[in-house]
Amino acid sequence: MSLLIKNIKQLVTCGGSSRIPRSGKKQSDIGLIENGNIFIEKEKILFAGNKNELKKFLATNTNTGYEIIDASEKVIMPGFVDSHTHFVFAGSRENEYEMRLAGKSYEQIAKAGGGIISTVKALRETPKKELKKLAEDRLGNFVKYGTTTLEGKSGYGLDLGNEIKTLEIMKELNIENRYSLDIISTFLGAHSVPTGKKKSEYVKEISQSMIPIVAKEKLAAFIDIFIEKNYFDKDDADIIFTMGKRFGLIPKLHTDQFYSVGGTDVAISHGAVSVDHLEVMTDEDISKLVTFNKTKGNRKIIATVLPGVSYFLDIPYAPARQLIKNNIPVALATDFNPGSCMTENIQMIMSLASLKLKMSAEEIINAVTANAAYALMMEDKVGSIEPGKQADLLIFDMPSYKYLFYNFGVNNIEKVIKKGKIIYSIN
Ligand code: NIG
Ligand code: FE
Repeated sequence: MSLLIKNIKQLVTCGGSSRIPRSGKKQSDIGLIENGNIFIEKEKILFAGNKNELKKFLATNTNTGYEIIDASEKVIMPGFVDSHTHFVFAGSRENEYEMRLAGKSYEQIAKAGGGIISTVKALRETPKKELKKLAEDRLGNFVKYGTTTLEGKSGYGLDLGNEIKTLEIMKELNIENRYSLDIISTFLGAHSVPTGKKKSEYVKEISQSMIPIVAKEKLAAFIDIFIEKNYFDKDDADIIFTMGKRFGLIPKLHTDQFYSVGGTDVAISHGAVSVDHLEVMTDEDISKLVTFNKTKGNRKIIATVLPGVSYFLDIPYAPARQLIKNNIPVALATDFNPGSCMTENIQMIMSLASLKLKMSAEEIINAVTANAAYALMMEDKVGSIEPGKQADLLIFDMPSYKYLFYNFGVNNIEKVIKKGKIIYSIN
């Protein structure tokens, strides 16, 4: 089926140079076309441009049978890319939320047996089929708020069988889910040390038994580590990333969430694709990232900031302005998980980025599209509306793209299109 969406009041393409991440002043470049038009054929975008360009395109286009949608009152953007989530889990932790409101910290709750380890217990007790249903049901919430590409991490299994169970669920969902979402998997065996094991013993298990199987079964594209006081350190990361890379897994990491413990050095020495969290990132680490990103031949490391975590745990916000000022490309993600950010709603994260990180509307839009796609190495397929890319787009019933930030707490989306098909519509 082919589709022409015409007279789009504001077409936000995030195109132009979408195969490189947006940083510094360029993070504000959203490739806006007033009165824009898009032509979709099957799963892909064949054309995106203004009225004159459309005329030329239609004159040479041999495709005559196509549907037309008039979007003269609408804003269209690329489908959002949520590049950091932990959406496969069982149980819930509203008890911890209450404890935090009563004054306990995330760290204190974890020490008392709550935190990641409590979700590990719940996941291990849940059969695969049931766990898969929980995960698939959550996809509907992501889609409703505009997410069309989703990263997901393991890390609530912490033993071979349960890590594999989690990764298999994501692999199966990527092949087939009712929304045709792209699901990109990350192996996060090093999320916490499981109860009853020594850290050194577990790091050895991850690198020697888990990584080879994860890679052989093609269960993940990326490998992640929670680098944090009481979790994993630089030396653990060296062992795990060295082995992961040997097996073709690409590093990503959780770092600088509560304490600054050298995650940036690890990211740089192993050429990570992104560094995520960064709530307490130091100026010195920012400088190191600048130097790495400036060096010719290096693929740029994306700084993925997660303001939903700062809001939900009531901790500091990452220095997004500082990162942008220093020309580091910034992505935004939900970090959806049961402990530190229980929301699938990326529009909520965009609102927080606006008010709390002081990012502009344009910077935020690039952070959840082009830059997030780059953080998943999906920049050739998603993250912008331009010829050759997947037809993943969002239709908003609103007067301008800036309205999205102004009318907060509601869902402004009218339709979500994934690979050329409408997967969500309010009417
Ligand atoms: O990204 N920081 C580590 N992992 C998650 C939290 C996991 C949990 O509390 O269950 C995060 O914030
Ligand atoms: Fe996370």
